[in-house]
Amino acid sequence: MNSKQIHLPQYLDYASTTPLDPLVFEAMTPYFLEDFGNAASTTHTYGERAAKAVKQSRQLIADAINALPEEIHFTSGATEAINLALKGAFLTYRHQNPHIITAQTEHKAVLDTCAYLEEIGAEVTYLPVDPEGLIDLAQLEASIRKDTLLVSIMVANNETGVLQEIKEIGKICQSKGVWFFTDATQAFGKVPIEVLNTSIDMLCFSAHKIYGPKGIGGLYVKKGIQLTPQIHGGGHEFGLRSGTLNVPGIVGLAKATQLCLEGMEETYGRLKNIRDDFESEMEKAGNIKVNGKNAPRLPHFSNFQLLNEEAEAFILRNRNKIAVAQGSACNSALVQPSHVLKAMGLNDKDAENSIRVSWGLKLESKYSNLNILF
Ligand SMILES: Cc1ncc(COP(=O)(O)O)c(C=O)c1O
Repeated sequence: MNSKQIHLPQYLDYASTTPLDPLVFEAMTPYFLEDFGNAASTTHTYGERAAKAVKQSRQLIADAINALPEEIHFTSGATEAINLALKGAFLTYRHQNPHIITAQTEHKAVLDTCAYLEEIGAEVTYLPVDPEGLIDLAQLEASIRKDTLLVSIMVANNETGVLQEIKEIGKICQSKGVWFFTDATQAFGKVPIEVLNTSIDMLCFSAHKIYGPKGIGGLYVKKGIQLTPQIHGGGHEFGLRSGTLNVPGIVGLAKATQLCLEGMEETYGRLKNIRDDFESEMEKAGNIKVNGKNAPRLPHFSNFQLLNEEAEAFILRNRNKIAVAQGSACNSALVQPSHVLKAMGLNDKDAENSIRVSWGLKLESKYSNLNILF
């Protein structure tokens, strides 16, 4: 049975992953079929064609964030890019700079990597956040020490969509002479991001959050930073990440980036209106309390506590109508009170009773307007 024959609920979990854009699929297809060459095997036309596609894709992604093509490194996704950035920097510079600063609300890919680095000698400061989910810039500045290596603060949170003040964070890091790594996985392609004027030294992104394929992403690394590779082999990706390149994935990532940037203002303006209307109507009716409401947020995100019903019951009751996330849905199959919401001051019960809705391009049913489900 295919998806046309069965009834599927309205998908409202675009922060978790997105469907492939048909135009991305079309751009990728030749690189599975006739242009299947190995991009490192350029003694013949097959390899040359693959290498050319990779080169063009790298340029497009570099241009999208105002970087140089040789500063873009393809990985299997954001998790790998985060591991490469944090472990790679620590292993190179650990003797003089063993201190890392991050926030309590980062994605588990950052937090678990930092926990591992602590096991092998790193000192990590986990900054708290205010009730809106924002770090305190003065506290960040005061936490930077002589032996601090880098600051790792995400652009947008994957549960609440809360946007940190990355321009200010970049300025602080630059003035103190420490690197600024930012996990841009949720924000890339949704809000304008560029590395030069924001003083970003490393940045990661992932295709499957922007209507591209799963299993491909990348890490921007500013020229001059020496990361210790985490995958050794043939010296691909400027010696930083070995392994035969995923050419269809890379082409898909570039096409998805291009499409997202072209339609960004229109798409996210539209989704923001849907989100804002939903939140104001439901808050007025006393049905929900929005988490991170007063912070700048990604326009397609809403994370809210249910005031009159348990989240689990709401999700079960509406299972055939909508697909939404509860708890730290992208971290594991287990629903646990979210570490992000708890850091924002919610108790276990309110955190467990919170739902994340994330709208996206396909709004094909009446349930994209959630209001009728309350
Ligand atoms: C903020 C953030 N960082 C990292 C990741 C991991 O990305 P990937 O699935 O590409 O490994 C995600 C995905 O859920 C995310 O939302």
